[in-house]
Amino acid sequence: MTTPTIELKPSAHPLSEAERNKILAAPGFGRHFTDHMVTIKWTEGRGWHDGQLVPYGPLSLDPATNVLHYAQEIFEGLKAYRQPDGSVAMFRPDANARRFQASARRLAMPELPVETFIEACDVLVQQDKGWVPAHGGEESLYLRPFMIATEVGLGVKPANEYLFVVIASPAGAYFAGGVKPVSIWLSENRVRAVPGGMGDAKTGGNYAASLLAQAEAAVHGCDQVAYLDAVEHKWVEELGGMNLYFVYEDAANGTRIVTPTLTGSLLAGVTRDSLLSVARDLGYASQEARVSIDQWRADTENGTLTEVFACGTAAVITPVGTVKSAGGEWTQSGGEPGKVTLKLREALLDIQRGVAEDTHGWMHRL
Ligand code: COI
Repeated sequence: MTTPTIELKPSAHPLSEAERNKILAAPGFGRHFTDHMVTIKWTEGRGWHDGQLVPYGPLSLDPATNVLHYAQEIFEGLKAYRQPDGSVAMFRPDANARRFQASARRLAMPELPVETFIEACDVLVQQDKGWVPAHGGEESLYLRPFMIATEVGLGVKPANEYLFVVIASPAGAYFAGGVKPVSIWLSENRVRAVPGGMGDAKTGGNYAASLLAQAEAAVHGCDQVAYLDAVEHKWVEELGGMNLYFVYEDAANGTRIVTPTLTGSLLAGVTRDSLLSVARDLGYASQEARVSIDQWRADTENGTLTEVFACGTAAVITPVGTVKSAGGEWTQSGGEPGKVTLKLREALLDIQRGVAEDTHGWMHRL
């Protein structure tokens, strides 16, 4: 497999600094995009080729392009942060690159070499580094690499042509309320993924499958939907687009954070994985285990389960407040952000913003 060198074809008309600064003052999430994107093609028999950095703009697709019909698509999300010395560093791009390969395998797509994935992100961030928000706040530059099947035709089969693209978007908080706890609707009749399905791949179909339950959550006044496993309808899996953590406190054993085991039907979040280590750095125990919905409620009511939070690249760490289901509702940590949640959040962000030592070697400097 060859590693393409990315040819630079920068925009002759990037957005003015004044207009860019206006956007950076309140970027929101996923609403604005930088001046450029990187594209790399893959063709059967030829492999990866024609890597280019080009002005950000529409993709031209034949209406019979495979991805538009059969959803052969995968994506990633990762962030670049402004460091205290003004330089820029990305958080764990190698982990995203490996997950992208795993998603590609699941969807019968070609695997992009890890170094090409990182090179594409590097080239884009380097070109558009003026779009990385200032150091010190919560803002970052969110990178969205994705790959689509571009063969034209209506036959259902793995395509013989693909397009890999990286775009970037300055990002503030994913949830408008920032660290204000989100409310969760527990979906007991809809599932996100099934054993043997593609729940552990980061593919648009999983997100499309979550939208109806997400809309039902909104009808019940909730911000997010939580899914149970598809077989026993008992084990907590994940939210529509982020993983979950449970914080247990007991006098004898101290603080323990627990995240649902990767059963194959939930996504192996990079933030989820990082927190297993960050928690240990802070002196907490951390583990992966199956958590049942009955246990969630019972342990909250008996006071051993003290906090719950959602985590993901976009959401960072967001506390969970109210949990509602058809069978009733309860509240975590009095509806306030829990102290362990906030401590983990600060510790992770400190590494990402370059103000705490990067003891795990997670930051990739440009
Ligand atoms: C991310 O956290 O990067 C995601 O892809 C999740 C999505 C809800 C924005």
